[in-house]
Amino acid sequence: MEDFTFDGTKRLSVDYVKGILQPTVTCDIRDEIWNFQAKPDDLLISTYPKAGTTWTQEIVELIQNEGDVEKSLEQAHAMPSPRILKTHLPFHLLPPSFLEKNCKIIYVARNPKDNMVSYYHFQRMNKALPDPGTWEEYFETFLDLCDSLPCFPSHLPVSKDKHRILYLFYEDMKKNPKHEVQKLTEFIEKKLDDKVLDKIVHYTSFDVMKQNPMANYSSIPAEIMDHSISPFMRKGAVGDWKKHFTVAQNERFDEDYKKKMADTRLTFHFQF
Ligand code: A3P
Repeated sequence: MEDFTFDGTKRLSVDYVKGILQPTVTCDIRDEIWNFQAKPDDLLISTYPKAGTTWTQEIVELIQNEGDVEKSLEQAHAMPSPRILKTHLPFHLLPPSFLEKNCKIIYVARNPKDNMVSYYHFQRMNKALPDPGTWEEYFETFLDLCDSLPCFPSHLPVSKDKHRILYLFYEDMKKNPKHEVQKLTEFIEKKLDDKVLDKIVHYTSFDVMKQNPMANYSSIPAEIMDHSISPFMRKGAVGDWKKHFTVAQNERFDEDYKKKMADTRLTFHFQF
């Protein structure tokens, strides 16, 4: 566990819960989280951090509001049912109520190499998280940390037949956003015409979301998130890992990933 200061005062301490940095306060209320009561029409967006959570949330909110951007803004303040909730918790720490109530779950996964690069830059700019050090240092910490932990997509190794889960991939969302928005719309059981789908794709594109203060985290004080170090909406690209990983790091990562995935019951794999 580490303590952090910004503004000269001790504000937040963080701890690793199964490979994911969480404010210690969430560790302290573990029982309350476990006992969280889901409602049957809750929609849960579940991700490993930095896999495209904010993007998916934005799409789902616009689908619910049939592309009405104004309504989405109003509702962000007073969330009505069906609630759209998000979690970074590994599957086995998810409040059981979500499965007992058979809530729909949207699981978003991203190429773990890009996920890791995104996390690195997020840790650089987010003063509430530990300083990641150099890329080389971060790479070592990340791999060490993941050694005994169910990192990456394996943290939701459940069967689609048993639960109402839609798996989405960041890479597919980049390649064919409309197709993925359509998939989400069907999963949510909405019927939207083509024009509305196009509108949603437009408002949830990287360039538009980067300018949207509701999505780009620019309202968070710079003492906490310093966008001059690295903006929250950083690159939104596929394959940025190639600009970060050395050949040796890439080989080590592949070996490590293969080993970890061999132990999971997961049915999908990333093509690097
Ligand atoms: P990068 O750091 O690679 O740019 P999360 O919301 O889970 O924290 O994920 C943040 C990552 O998703 C960041 O990745 C961010 O730029 C990217 N992202 C957010 N909105 C996006 C969009 N509309 N299109 C593509 N990428 C997006």
